[in-house]
This record gives sequence, C-alpha cells and structure tokens, in this order.
Amino acid sequence: MSQLLEKIDKSRLPRHIAIIMDGNGRWAKEQGQDRLFGHFHGVESVRNIVEGCAELGVEYLTLYAFSTENWDRPEYEVMGLMELLVSTIRKEVESLDKNNIRLHVIGDMQMLPESARAELKEALDFTKDNTGLQLIMALSYSGRWELLNAVKNIAKEVKAGHLDPEQIDQNTLQQFLCTGDFPDPELMIRTSGEYRISNFLLYQLAYAELYFTNVRWPDFRKENLYEAIVDFQGRERRYGKTSDQITESTVNQ
Ligand code: IPE
Ligand code: IPE
Ligand code: MG
Repeated sequence: MSQLLEKIDKSRLPRHIAIIMDGNGRWAKEQGQDRLFGHFHGVESVRNIVEGCAELGVEYLTLYAFSTENWDRPEYEVMGLMELLVSTIRKEVESLDKNNIRLHVIGDMQMLPESARAELKEALDFTKDNTGLQLIMALSYSGRWELLNAVKNIAKEVKAGHLDPEQIDQNTLQQFLCTGDFPDPELMIRTSGEYRISNFLLYQLAYAELYFTNVRWPDFRKENLYEAIVDFQGRERRYGKTSDQITESTVNQ
C-alpha cells in the first residue's frame, strides 16, 4: 500500500472534493502536441481519480470540466471537447454503474449540443439509483451563471406568491443552486499551478480548504489525490473562531 494512503485518516475524509482540472493544453504543448491531445489524456486522470475517490469512500466528487467562459475558445477545441465528452460518457457509463457511482451534471445544459445532452441524459438516468460515489460534472458551468439563475428563479417564485421574501434564508438560496442536493466541498484542488477559482462554485467554496499543485491534470493520479487529502487533514478549520476554541471543542467531544 502506498505510504501516503496509509497516512490518510479514513474517519476524517472530506465528504466532498471539488477539482479544477487544469493544464491539459500546456501538458500537450510541452510534448509538441495539439491541445486536444491533452484533453484526451486528461480522461485517464478522470478515470483514475474517480476510482481513487470511490475506493476511499469519498461521498461526492465535483469535476470542473468546461466553464461558461470556455465556450469562447477556438471552435475547433470546443468541438473536440464536446466530442470527447460524448464518447467518454458512452464508454464509461457501464463501468460507473458497475461501481455503484451516480452521475450528476451542473451547468447550463441548454448550451450543449443536442448529441451531448442526449448522451448525458441517458447516463444520468442509467446511474440514478446508485448510492456510492456521487460524481458531479460541472459542464458549461460558472458560479456567476449559477447565482444569476438562482436569483431569477427565486424572483419568479416570489412573483407567483409561492415565496415570502422575508422567509428567504441561506437554506433557501442553497436550494436554488445547482448543488442544492449536495453538501459544500471541504477540499478544492486545482492542478497546473494557477492560483485562482475561475468562476467555480463561488458560493459553495466559502469555507473550503484550497489546495494547489503544479502537476498538470493529465499527470494527476491517485497518489497526488492522497497527498492533497493528507495536506487537508493537517489543517485547522476554524470557521472564524479562534484556534483555542477549536482545540477545546475537539477535546470536549
Ligand atoms: C483544462 O485544461 C481543461 C479545460 C478547461 C477544458 P486547459 O485546456 O485549460 O489547459 P491549459 O490551462 O491551457 O494548459
Ligand atoms: C478553468 O480552467 C475551467 C476548467 C478547468 C474547466 P481555465 O483554464 O478555463 O481557467 P483560466 O482561464 O486559466 O482562469
Ligand atoms: Mg487552463
């Protein structure tokens, strides 16, 4: 067993890990290849990390696969990514199902080509009864899009008389986000050396621990995931309190 894996305290796993899978393009370029070659190899990392999370018993994994802003990339790359998405889902859905993994998507599905939407719908349906790892793909997603959408829908409910503005609390808002059914991520990982959120889960990451690594996404494997989890477990999560308050409450537990 890997030494890093042994260091993980299974009783204190993050329930929800979110990952910004970045660096496919640079990885490909470094090998003198086309950017799509990088995306293609990134799929192997997805497979490996999904497996790693399922083996550990992580309950939720959210993967940022395509942002609202990524639509502005060259058409050739966008088309290539969409094709890769369709073919990957088709290839992987049975293995997801066999491993009791349920697929979810968050994002603006209206933006996706019909073929991708149909493939996704089938995969969501196929895995809907699975109770193991909940795999959430963020596709055509951005935090600002999500918040705007939530505000619009809340306004509609108010206008229709179903919701009293005075009754709106954090719980209500949370229910109107795409992630209403999921707990907030405790750990957010970004690969490839960029130190930013890039419009990912802006509301949900409020108290997430952030972990950045220089490893490019196509090189990211279970060992790298374990390293991030070990790092996470070494942190003190204070939620605005003092360190003493936190240690006291753990001692008294
Ligand atoms: C992440 O890799 C994948 C997507 C955003 C779809 P990039 O394509 O952003 O790779 P870099 O950042 O250009 O290296
Ligand atoms: C964020 O990566 C989006 C995904 C990984 C899907 P980007 O590569 O698009 O982010 P920026 O442009 O570097 O901020
Ligand atoms: Mg990038």
